[in-house]
Amino acid sequence: MEHRRLGHTQLDVSAIGLGTWAMGATVETWGHVDDRESIATIHYALDHGINLIDTAPIYGLGHSEEVVGKAIRGRRSEVILATKCGLLFSNSPDHQPQRCLSPQSVRRECEESLRRLQTDVIDLYFCHWPDPATPIRETMEVLTKLLHEGTIRAIGLSNFSCEQIAAAREFGPVHVLQPPFSMLARRAADDLFPYCLEHEIAVLPHSPLVKGLLTGKFTAEDTFDDIRQHDPDFIGNRFHRNLRIVDALKEIAARYDKTVAQLAINWTCNFPGVTAPLIGAKRPTQLTENLGGLGWELSDDDRARIDALIGGPADGA
Ligand SMILES: NC(=O)c1ccc[n+]([C@@H]2O[C@H](COP(=O)([O-])OP(=O)(O)OC[C@H]3O[C@@H](n4cnc5c(N)ncnc54)[C@H](OP(=O)(O)O)[C@@H]3O)[C@@H](O)[C@H]2O)c1
Repeated sequence: MEHRRLGHTQLDVSAIGLGTWAMGATVETWGHVDDRESIATIHYALDHGINLIDTAPIYGLGHSEEVVGKAIRGRRSEVILATKCGLLFSNSPDHQPQRCLSPQSVRRECEESLRRLQTDVIDLYFCHWPDPATPIRETMEVLTKLLHEGTIRAIGLSNFSCEQIAAAREFGPVHVLQPPFSMLARRAADDLFPYCLEHEIAVLPHSPLVKGLLTGKFTAEDTFDDIRQHDPDFIGNRFHRNLRIVDALKEIAARYDKTVAQLAINWTCNFPGVTAPLIGAKRPTQLTENLGGLGWELSDDDRARIDALIGGPADGA
C-alpha cells in the first residue's frame, strides 16, 4: 500500500481511506447495514494496508464511532483515526442536525467521541461544517488547546471555503481539509486544491464514488428509498445524464481490465492536490474491488478523454 504524508504533519496515511458513514446503520440513510459486516470490513481494510478510517458522531448518532471503536480495539496503533465535531444530534421533527462549534460543545463532543472510540487520542479532528453562529477564533482556540494537550494530533476542516479556512488559520494551525470531490463534483479543484497545496494542507476528499453511482451498478430502472432518493445526482435528467457518463467510463475502464469504481478511485487518488480519498464501503467484497483502484496508471490520453466526457461543470456540482 502506498502511503502519503499528511500535509505538514508527521502522519502518513494510506492512498485511500475507509469512510464509515454507512456503518452508522441508520436504515433510512443507508438501508440495512450489519454491524458484524461493518467490523469485518474495517478489519479487511486494516489487513490490506488501509490505515485511514473516517467517522463522525452524527453517523448513526454515535453508532458508527462505536462500531469503529469495537473494530480497532487491540489494533489502535495501526490506525490514523479521523472523527468530527460540530453537528449536534437534533430532537426536531425533521432530525436536521444543529451546527455548533462553540468551545464547550467541541470539548464535550471530543470527550464523547473518545469514549465511543475507546481511545485516548484522535489523530485527525475535523469541524464537520462551518458554524456561522460561533466566531472561528473561539473554535480554533479550543482545537489548538486539544492539540497541545495531546488529545488530538491534527486539526481538520470539512466543507469549508478558502475564505473560511484562511479565517481559521489566523487563530491556529489547519492540517487537513475534507471537501466533497469526485468525477461528478469537481469544484474543489478550482480553488480549494490550489489553496491547500500552497499552504501544505492535506486534502482527504469525501464521496469519490458519488454514493455508489460511480461503481456502475445502477440502471435507469433503479429507484431509491435511502439517502439517494433525496440526492440530485440520483434524480430525473441528472441521474440519466450520470448513467450515460458511467457507460462511457465503463469503456475506458475496460481497456485496463478495470471496473468503473476502480477507474474513479484511480482518477481521484492521482488528481493533483489530493492526498487520499475517503471511500465508503459496507462489506469486504466492496473493498476488494475498491483496492483495485490502486497500483496502476491511467494514460494521459485517457485522462483527457475523461475530462472531455465529464466536461463542463456538472449542475450544482
Ligand atoms: N465531511 C463530510 O461532510 C462528509 C460527507 C459525506 C461523506 N463523508 C465521508 O466520506 C466517506 C465516503 O463517502 P460516501 O460514503 O458518502 O460515498 P462514496 O464513498 O462515494 O460511496 C460509498 C457507497 O458506495 C457503495 N459502494 C462502495 N464501494 C462499492 C463497490 N465496490 N461496489 C458497489 N458499491 C459500492 C456503498 O453503498 P451501497 O452498498 O449502499 O451502494 C458505499 O457505502 C463517508 O463514509 C464519510 O466517512 C464525509
